[in-house]
Amino acid sequence: PSRSFSASAVRNAAINQVTVIGSGLMGAGIAQVAAQTGHKVNLVDLNDDVLKKAENSIKTSVSRVAKKQFKDDTEKGNKFIDETLTNITYMTDNNRSVATADLVIEAIIENVEIKRKLFSSLDKAAPSHTIFASNTSSLPIKDIAESTTRLDRFGGLHFFNPVPVMKLLEIIRIPETSDATYNKMVEWGKNMGKVTVTCKDTPGFIVNRLLVPYMMEALRMLERGDASARDIDTSMKLGAGYPMGPLELADYVGLDTSYYIVKGWAEKYPDNTLFENVPLLEKLIKEGKFGVKSGEGIYSYKK
Ligand code: NAI
Repeated sequence: PSRSFSASAVRNAAINQVTVIGSGLMGAGIAQVAAQTGHKVNLVDLNDDVLKKAENSIKTSVSRVAKKQFKDDTEKGNKFIDETLTNITYMTDNNRSVATADLVIEAIIENVEIKRKLFSSLDKAAPSHTIFASNTSSLPIKDIAESTTRLDRFGGLHFFNPVPVMKLLEIIRIPETSDATYNKMVEWGKNMGKVTVTCKDTPGFIVNRLLVPYMMEALRMLERGDASARDIDTSMKLGAGYPMGPLELADYVGLDTSYYIVKGWAEKYPDNTLFENVPLLEKLIKEGKFGVKSGEGIYSYKK
C-alpha cells in the first residue's frame, strides 16, 4: 500500500526544491525570486568566483525589494532578506545540485550543444519526478529536450530581464510535455508571483517573435536613412505609447544578443524575410558596439 501512496504523493507534490543552473544575469534573478517566494534553491555555476558575483548581486537586489515591500517595517524587511538568502545554496556540482530537485531550470550560455550535454548528464542524476526546463530565448526547446529521456517532463520557462521586476513568464510546451508537467509549471509560475502565458515551441515564443523583427525593422529604417535614430524612437514613444523606442531598446537588450538571435533563426528558417540580415547591425557588432553594456551602440553611453 505504501508504494501506491508514495507514487501518487510524488505525482501531486508541489514544486518546493528548485535548481537553477547558470548564475548569470538570468539565473541569479530566477534563483532570487524563487527564494523570495519560499522555495529552497540550489544555484549552480562553473566556479566559485562566478557564484560569489551572483551572491553579491542577489544580496543587493533582495535589499532593494525589501525596501520597497516593507517600507516602514525594517524588522519585517530584515526577516524577508534573511529568509530569502538562507533559501539559496551555492554550488558547482551539477549532479549533486539536482539530487532532490522538483524542478531544474537551465540558464547557461545560449548554445544548443552545451545545453544538450548538460541536460543529458542531469537526466541521469535527477530523480524521475524532476521537471526540466530551459530559459533559452532563441533555441527550440525540443532540440534541447531530446538530449533527455523525459520529454513529458520537459518545457520552456522563459523569464524576462530583470527577473525580480518583470512580471511575465512564458511557458512553452513541446508536443510531448504532459498536462501534469504543464499544470505544475503554471502553478509554480503563479507561486513565483508571475503572470504566465502559454506558447508553442516556435521561434522567439511570443514576446521576442514580435519584438526582435520590430527592432530589426527600425534598424533597416535607420539604415535606409528614412529618419534619424532619435526621431524613430520619439515616434514610437509618443505615437504608439511604447515606454522605450525600438533603437534604445535594441541598445538595452544588447545588439550582439539580437544579432545572434536573428542569425540563428535565419539559418533555421531561410525563407522568412523577417529574419533577414541587417548589414548595419552586422557593422556595429564588428566594431564592438554592443549597446549600453559596451558604452556604445546605436547611441553613445560614454560618460
Ligand atoms: P550570462 O552570460 O549572464 O550567464 C550565463 C551563466 O552560465 C554564466 O555565469 C556561465 O558561467 C554559466 N555557465 C555556462 N556554461 C555552464 C555550464 N555548463 N554549467 C553551469 N554554468 C554554466 O547569460 P544570461 O543572459 O543570464 O542568459 C542565460 C540564458 O537565459 C540564455 O539561454 C539566454 O538565451 C536566456 N535568456 C536571456 C535573457 C536576457 O535578457 N539576457 C532573457 C531571457 C532568457
